[in-house]
Amino acid sequence: MNPERWKARERARELARQSLSKGDALGWFEQLYREAGSDPARIPWADDDGHPLLLTWLASAPRPRPGARALVVGCGLGEDARALAAAGWTVTAFDISPTAVEWCRRLAPPSAVPASPAAPVAYVQADLLVAPESWRRGFELVLECYTLQALPAALRPQAASALASFVAPRGSLLVITRLREPDEPAGELPWPLVRAEVEALGALGLVQREWSEFQSGPSEPRSRHARARYEAS
Ligand SMILES: C[S@@+](CC[C@H](N)C(=O)[O-])C[C@H]1O[C@@H](n2cnc3c(N)ncnc32)[C@H](O)[C@@H]1O
Repeated sequence: MNPERWKARERARELARQSLSKGDALGWFEQLYREAGSDPARIPWADDDGHPLLLTWLASAPRPRPGARALVVGCGLGEDARALAAAGWTVTAFDISPTAVEWCRRLAPPSAVPASPAAPVAYVQADLLVAPESWRRGFELVLECYTLQALPAALRPQAASALASFVAPRGSLLVITRLREPDEPAGELPWPLVRAEVEALGALGLVQREWSEFQSGPSEPRSRHARARYEAS
C-alpha cells in the first residue's frame, strides 16, 4: 500500500475509533469526507476506476435492457456507479455522507465523455439503515462494495435486510467484500466479513448464484476478497 493511502487509512481508523467511542457508528464517514477537502488521496477507498472485481464481472455479464435500474450502496466517490452507467445501467447511487454525494455530483458524469452513451448517475444522500420505502424491490441490480465491512458487526444484519429489500423480482445483489476465517480476529477497520455473514443473505429471500474468492494484489498482500451474487425470486 502506498504511504499516502496508508496515512488516509490510519486517519479513517482514528476517526472511526473516536466516533464509535461516543456510540456513533456512522458519523465518522462524513467527518472523513469533509476533512479531505476534495482531495481523493485522503479517502482510503478512492480509486480512479470501479472496483476490479466489478469490472471483471461486468465484462462477462450481459448488457442490461434499456432502462434497467441499478442501485449502488455506500457509493463513496462514485467510481462503481460510473462504471455501471458506462455499462448501460440506469444508476442511482447513495451515500450517508452529504459531502461524498456533493463530491460525486461535481465529478464529470460519464455522459460528458465524448461518444459515451451512458446516462448520468442520480446521486442521493440516504442512510442504508433507513432507506426510502420507494426503493423496495425497485432495482434489477444492487451493488454492495465494502460498506458492510465498514460497519460494526452488530449493524450488519439490519444492513443485510435492507440490501435484500432493494432487489427487484429476479434481480441480483452483487456483494464485494474482504473476507476472513471465523477464527481470525476481525482486526482493525476495514473489518473483513466471515463467509457466514455474507451467506446470511440467503435467509432473506435471496438465492446464491455465484461465489468466487480472490487474493489481493501486492498493494495489500494478505487480504482475501469474495464476490458473490444473489438473486431474488
Ligand atoms: C468503505 S467505503 C466504500 C465506498 C465505495 N463503495 C467503494 O468501494 O469505494 C463505505 C462507504 O459507505 C458509506 N456508508 C457507511 N454507512 C452507510 C449507511 N448506513 N448508509 C449509506 N452509506 C453508508 C460511507 O460514507 C462510505 O462512503
